[in-house]
Amino acid sequence: MAERYDVIVIGSGPAGYVAAVRAAQLGFKVACVEKWRNPGGELALGGTCLNVGCIPSKALLASSEEYEKTLHHLGEHGIHAEKVRVDVAKMIARKDGIVSKMTRGIEFLFRKNKVTWLKGHGRFVGAADGFYRIEVSGEGEPDVNEAKHVIVATGSKARHLPGAAVDNVRICDNEGALSFDAVPRRLGVIGAGVIGLELGSVWRRLGSEVTVLEALPGFLAACDDAVSKECWKIFGKQGLRIHLGAKIGEVRASDQGVTVAWTDDQGAAQVLEVDRLIVSIGRVPNTDGLGLESIGLAPNERGFIDVDGQCRTKLPGVYAIGDVVRGPMLAHKGEDEGVMVAELIAGQQPHIDYDCIPWVVYTSPEIAWVGRTEQQLKAEGRAYKSGQFPFSINGRALGMGTPEGFVKVLADARTDEILGVHIVAASASDLIAEAVVAMEFKASAEDIGRICHPHPSMSEALREAALASDKRALNM
Ligand code: FAD
Ligand code: NAI
Repeated sequence: MAERYDVIVIGSGPAGYVAAVRAAQLGFKVACVEKWRNPGGELALGGTCLNVGCIPSKALLASSEEYEKTLHHLGEHGIHAEKVRVDVAKMIARKDGIVSKMTRGIEFLFRKNKVTWLKGHGRFVGAADGFYRIEVSGEGEPDVNEAKHVIVATGSKARHLPGAAVDNVRICDNEGALSFDAVPRRLGVIGAGVIGLELGSVWRRLGSEVTVLEALPGFLAACDDAVSKECWKIFGKQGLRIHLGAKIGEVRASDQGVTVAWTDDQGAAQVLEVDRLIVSIGRVPNTDGLGLESIGLAPNERGFIDVDGQCRTKLPGVYAIGDVVRGPMLAHKGEDEGVMVAELIAGQQPHIDYDCIPWVVYTSPEIAWVGRTEQQLKAEGRAYKSGQFPFSINGRALGMGTPEGFVKVLADARTDEILGVHIVAASASDLIAEAVVAMEFKASAEDIGRICHPHPSMSEALREAALASDKRALNM
């Protein structure tokens, strides 16, 4: 007879494993289906984020930053290093070690919370008597499990460019780009989005000549204009060659490298010759082979599973969370949805304020924001005020040798409520958390301006920007 659970989660990325753990904490009998295999062929939990996304990319970003600092910035501190060299194999092994530690950590969390890991590919095979039936195809015979509640957390995969087959040797998506065996002399990147900028930066710092081809005429279009302009200058100075308005033509790979025919924003034909190419043009939701049709569900025209504001599908007891549904494809957004759905199943009344989900691009400096951009506020016709404070006059930033960037605070002109915060800074990923808390509590810019901030610290720039929105910055 089929094993019965209260909750089955399909997928163990940040959305799925967090949903499973929270549901188990709430007293449910929970299973999580996962089929991921790491390059060693072992089954692994953690999804894109832990295996080939957030965690490995940040490990390589950190390693490459150390290298760049040692080569180019330690001299300012009076420290001289000679014969500095990169050992790519060791760098990749360090990254793999961190991935392995983190994915095993989820196995530990499952054991601790008594979540059963069903190893293999999960798919719906109908429903009966108020239970959904999930078939799991792993190493042996497929077996069928049943659950009252199913949470689909199947995530996303890299979108590929038609006509440019990814082999993860010459033409790579995120998986290959995180595991090069040597620093390519010339690296091409298609797409100047988050992955293109982060991974392009990794390999540029390690010595590659990096050329990025972006289809859109604008740079970092989702960011506040002040941020896009600042970062355009900074990344240009760092040596990333970014071409906007590029139209990609034929892409040809050979043993020697990759040739990309493209047309520039003036309509002129161009050819890019590189040793390796990263294709980072967005991601598509994973619903292949999920058997949605067997329960009367289908992905929408963009491939996502339609859900309401609380991640409910149109079927009672079936939920979908994370990258497979609308909203930003971010690990922390998926995690919050996982908690929300588990608590919803337990009869609680959870809520996510999607306006308070922060974004971070882990370039150097980092870019982080939450809430509205100035151009969005203009388009909405909302009366706002703006305050900005540069790190070039923040004592801590100068001491650390990271004077680039600024904090910009946007607040309602009448009520002073903070509507958006935009940061370009060495530690923007940490600094933005204060802005998220403030916005979740509907704080005013004056609230931030009146709160004591440690001195000297980067966080003082947020306070000064908040004060600046009322034209009373103290240190500018
Ligand atoms: P996923 O993490 O994609 O996990 C889905 C899981 O479901 C997978 O393990 C898959 O094997 C499994 N699965 C799918 N179908 C089935 C099935 N039928 N049966 C069994 N198992 C199945 N986000 C951030 O917030 N911060 C970052 O710094 C960041 N960096 C990133 C860097 C890179 C290079 C990439 C590619 C992404 C990055 N992201 C980052 C995005 C982040 O990884 C995703 O938003 C996040 O992983 C989505 O979580 P998820 O649980 O929805 O899906
Ligand atoms: P993206 O959506 O961030 O950027 C893709 C870029 O490719 C866009 O600028 C787009 O205009 C461009 N593009 C699309 N088609 C193109 C074409 N044919 N030719 C040239 N350019 C083209 O997607 P990306 O970088 O692949 O990342 C996927 C997602 O993963 C991100 O949207 C984000 O949600 C997540 N992610 C998050 C990170 C973080 O939080 N720090 C890091 C990396 C990924």
